[in-house]
Amino acid sequence: MDTFLSLPYEHDSPLPLDEEHEFRTPDALVERFLAEHTEPGDTVLDPFAGFGTTLEVAERMDRDPYGIEYERERVGYVRERIESPDDVRQGSVLDLDSSWVPAIDCCFTSPPFMERTDDRNPFRNYAGESSYDEYLDDVETAFERIGAVLATDGTVVVDVSNMKYQDRVTTLAWDVAERGAAMLDFAGEVVVGWEGADDGDGVFGYGYDHSYCLVFSADGD
Ligand SMILES: C[S@@+](CC[C@H](N)C(=O)[O-])C[C@H]1O[C@@H](n2cnc3c(N)ncnc32)[C@H](O)[C@@H]1O
Repeated sequence: MDTFLSLPYEHDSPLPLDEEHEFRTPDALVERFLAEHTEPGDTVLDPFAGFGTTLEVAERMDRDPYGIEYERERVGYVRERIESPDDVRQGSVLDLDSSWVPAIDCCFTSPPFMERTDDRNPFRNYAGESSYDEYLDDVETAFERIGAVLATDGTVVVDVSNMKYQDRVTTLAWDVAERGAAMLDFAGEVVVGWEGADDGDGVFGYGYDHSYCLVFSADGD
């Protein structure tokens, strides 16, 4: 596994539905990890599907994509763009179970981020209240749910970044890694340097021009 990548911060299509901030995963990153961790015909899950980058790239690479997304409008958007719209469901990763998802060969995802002094709930798309500790509890539950549908030799890749806001750093990537490692085997991180990334206060990372892909495998314990 290479542990450092440098990729252009580019997307294959314009940001849809009048969104102001870019928060989608660049296609090239998904391609890179699916090429390494899956074969044609494998199942791929994104439980924070957003606008469906993981699912579209998976389909393009002849993988079999499944997704969950909290925002109804985004689900509608993704369903129009993939071959099996029933395999994208509106709901919360916290309710994910194996009743409709087959054993997953690779989960590639990026969760909603939280700055540690924020009090909005990322797992309800910033509606309702939460604390950073509650958010991390939800992150851990999400890893547990993903682990429950993961094939025994499956891989989970989580794209996440630390955050800097008003000169305070939230060690989001470290904290997500710790919570993931409580549920799955942590195989290590890949540092992704983003060429041309917005280093202002965009959703991408408040001053950061890199993110981390945290790689996990099913817990062998
Ligand atoms: C960082 S974005 C993912 C972007 C995606 N990778 C893409 O390229 O479009 C995180 C997504 O998680 C969704 N989300 C928030 N809470 C959720 C939950 N409890 N369950 C599932 N999805 C959730 C948000 O609506 C948002 O679209």
